[in-house]
Formats: sequence, structure tokens, C-alpha cells
Amino acid sequence: MLVDNHGRKINYLRLAVTDRCNLRCFYCMPEDGLNWLSRTELMSYEEMLRATTLLVKMGIEKIRITGGEPFVRKDIMKLLTTLSQLNGLKELSITTNGVLTAPHVAEMKALGIRSVNLSLDTLDANRFFAITRRDEFADVMTTLDELLKHDFEVKINAVVMDGRNTQDIIPIVELTKDLPVSVRFIEEMPFNGDEDSYRGVVWDHVRILDEITDHYPQIQKLVDPAYSTAYNYQIPGHKGSVGIIAAYSRTFCGTCNRIRITPQGTLKNCLYDDGVLNIKDLMRSGASDGEIEKYLLNAFNHRSVDGWEAERLRVEKTGVHESMATIGG
Ligand code: GTP
Ligand code: 5AD
Ligand code: SF4
Repeated sequence: MLVDNHGRKINYLRLAVTDRCNLRCFYCMPEDGLNWLSRTELMSYEEMLRATTLLVKMGIEKIRITGGEPFVRKDIMKLLTTLSQLNGLKELSITTNGVLTAPHVAEMKALGIRSVNLSLDTLDANRFFAITRRDEFADVMTTLDELLKHDFEVKINAVVMDGRNTQDIIPIVELTKDLPVSVRFIEEMPFNGDEDSYRGVVWDHVRILDEITDHYPQIQKLVDPAYSTAYNYQIPGHKGSVGIIAAYSRTFCGTCNRIRITPQGTLKNCLYDDGVLNIKDLMRSGASDGEIEKYLLNAFNHRSVDGWEAERLRVEKTGVHESMATIGG
């Protein structure tokens, strides 16, 4: 078992496979996109396989594929196929915006993938366009249908944005009435890849819960799974559940079980830190698995309680917030 210097178990890897995306959600990246990484700057699938094989041997049990948008990376199904066969890995899942996902749903099911997290901030096509700057709402809804048809465990991620989609909170909760989905409302974080358009969180977890409770006074708290980022609730009689992720308030750092690898192969101990080790560069410099393992263990021994301070310093120094797409969610 992998344990960090604060006694927290590490068993969950979030592996970002690309910084590119086919949407332009304003809370994630500027309209013109980012300075995309070149092919050689990206970790190759071979390098990902080597890193994940080693990490699974060391104690990682769950891998979530993120991005950018995973399905814009060429041959992503090949990577999913390889990772689904990793010895010792208990769970492989993916977070996607759903634009290109529908045609792959059956094959994902056949690989043994059981759960998919779908980003969907609104149920209105016009507001979808206003938020994502792309007109792909129908394809995302098709993906949702396909996932449910194939009995995936589906979590819908909705970032709550003042003045943009708060009127969607109740309709999104309403989805749980007939659909066995978990909808999760996320506090907006300062990762918009932009200078200073982020103005702090207006809808924090308390306000989101108040809004929902006003409409559903009968809402009940569920017991949260261990290491859950979400506080989970259910409206009695509804098939699905409702979660609230205090991503900005960071109420879950004390039990943080996750590490990240960015698209360029950098290990992050926290969503908010600056990156602590470049695994891809280590591999390319000829390091052996044993040597890489030592570097990894050293990094896990220097995890901070909360990486927020690093984000504050970064913005102070560069004036720019990172994009969620380069961090990997
Ligand atoms: P499960 O594996 O299903 O529990 O999902 P998850 O919540 O780990 O992952 P998902 O990709 O669906 O992310 C949902 C939201 O939670 C995103 O906005 C993430 O950035 C945020 N989130 C995930 N992990 C962390 C974390 O370690 N710290 C913070 N602050 N936010 C996180
Ligand atoms: N704040 C909160 N969540 C964000 N995501 C992307 N950018 C932000 C942000 N600035 C969410 C996406 C996706 C998940 C991986 O991260 O909606 O569901
Ligand atoms: Fe793309 Fe996800 Fe960022 Fe939206 S939040 S631009 S879907 S990576």
C-alpha cells in the first residue's frame, strides 16, 4: 500500500492524455484555445503504459483518464484497451465532455469499464453554446443516452457559474427522478487558462445546497463513499443521487487519495500544485524502473496538506491561471 507523509493512502491516479479539447468552456480555457503541446512534448502511449504499470505495482488501484478531452487524442481506444488489461488495476474510468464519445460506448463496456463521468453544465442548447462556445449539445445528450442504455454508472459533472447556469441547478437535479445518474455540482475553480477573469467562487457548496434544499426540503444526506470528493444526497423516491463537490473550498484534502499525471508527463501531488516530477523526462533520460520508483516514493513523501499555496504563488508570479485542460481536471 502506498501512503504519503501525512498517512494518506494513495491509490487513485488521474492520467491526462491530452491538453486539447473540442470545446472551449470559458471556465477552463480561452476562446482561442491554448498553446497546444506538440507531439513530442506529450507522453506517448508506451510511456503511459510504462508509468502506469509501475504505479499499479506500487499500489495504484484506480485510474481515471482525463484531458483536455480524452477522445480527441488519436487512437484513445487503443490506450483504454491496454490499460484495461493491466494486472492489479481494479478500476479504469474516464471523464469526458461527451462530444465524440457515443460511438465508443459499446466497446468501452466490452473492455470492462463500468463508470463514466460526463461534463454537462446545462440542459439548454443555447446556454450550452454560451458556456462551451461550441454547438455540440445534441451529441453530448446522445452520449448520455448511450451510456445509460449500456448500464454505465454515470456521473454528470456540472460546474456552477453565477449568471450562467444557476437556473439549470433544479432541472439537473430533476434528471435524478427517472434516471439512475449521480449529478454533481462543482464549485468553479480558478483554472480558466486566462489572466484574471476568475473572480472567486460565488456559488460555494453551502449556497448550492441551500438552492437545492429550498426546492426539495425532503432531501436526505447519503453516506459518502470513502475518499469521495462529493457530499452526496438523494431526493426520496428519485432513482439517482445528487452530489456537491467543494472543489474550491477543498473540504476533502484530509483524505486525498489521488495523484495526477499531466499530458506532458508531470506528476502532481495536488490539483493545485505546480508539478513535482517529470516522469516522461526521467524515462527519456534512460532511468530504470527502479530509479523512477525511488523518485516517485520521494515525491509521495513530500506531499503538502493542500496545494493551494502553490496556486497563489503561481498567479502572483505569472499573473495567469493554469487551464484545467493542462492539469487534467
Ligand atoms: P470519481 O472518481 O467518480 O469519484 O470522480 P472524481 O470526482 O474524482 O472525478 P471527476 O473527473 O468527475 O471530477 C469532478 C470534479 O472534481 C472536477 O471539477 C475535478 O477537478 C474535481 N476534483 C477532482 N479531484 C480533485 C482534487 O483532488 N482536488 C480538487 N480541489 N478538486 C478535485
Ligand atoms: N472549475 C471547476 N471544475 C472545472 N472543470 C473544468 N474546469 C473547471 C473549473 N475551472 C471540470 C469539468 C470536468 C472536470 C474534469 O473538471 O467540468 O467535468
Ligand atoms: Fe474541454 Fe473539459 Fe475544458 Fe470544457 S472543461 S474546454 S470540455 S477540457
